[in-house]
Amino acid sequence: MEHLPKLVAPSILSADFTKLAEEISLVERAGADWIHCDVMDGRYVPNITFGPFIVEAVRRTTSLTIDTHLMIVEPEKYIADFVKAGSNQITVHQEECKHLHRTVEQIKSLGAKAGVSLNPSTPVSTLEEILPDLDLVLIMSVNPGFGGQKFIERSIEKLKKLDAMRQVLNPTLMIAIDGGISEQNCTRVRKAGANALIAGSAVFRSPNPAETIAKLKA
Ligand code: DX5
Ligand code: ZN
Repeated sequence: MEHLPKLVAPSILSADFTKLAEEISLVERAGADWIHCDVMDGRYVPNITFGPFIVEAVRRTTSLTIDTHLMIVEPEKYIADFVKAGSNQITVHQEECKHLHRTVEQIKSLGAKAGVSLNPSTPVSTLEEILPDLDLVLIMSVNPGFGGQKFIERSIEKLKKLDAMRQVLNPTLMIAIDGGISEQNCTRVRKAGANALIAGSAVFRSPNPAETIAKLKA
């Protein structure tokens, strides 16, 4: 979809938390579009990260869009807290929402953009009915839980399928890809339909994060 912007969203999961404000300011100056916050609870995924307290600190360091990815059980219980902390977009997992439509409406009623994420084994067809209501779909190209994992190649086919659904059901939908994104695969995922590239280790472990962001945006 040519009219949709090409975005890059560094995930602070791979940032150095002893100097988080500096890390965020560095990627902001380098052209990052969103700051991606990976929230993990040790139940939905086998890792624990942070909650609204850190998102609120991120909010005070940047005016960029805060894109919050909730990898937690019963996300509906915490959505209001994350919006209050400053999240502009909230993404929940399709697999964890019993009443996905209700949860999407909840996010939107709080004034945030609504995203839904799919794990590698979840087909895009599960989103057919909800797609017109969404601002964002986030395709996981690794199993959620950790940064620095290997990109799952089948995600390319998934992006293509979702791109085709988007053209029919919601032409302004943003498609994000998350997991194992690098300078090596960024062109392929964009061609397959991804508008927003989420990247943790590729950006924060790069010897030159600004150059990496420029390559991911190209
Ligand atoms: C994984 C997270 C990703 C992760 C990406 O569960 O959702 O956002 O931080 O990290 P990289 O880019 O290192 O795969
Ligand atoms: Zn994420």
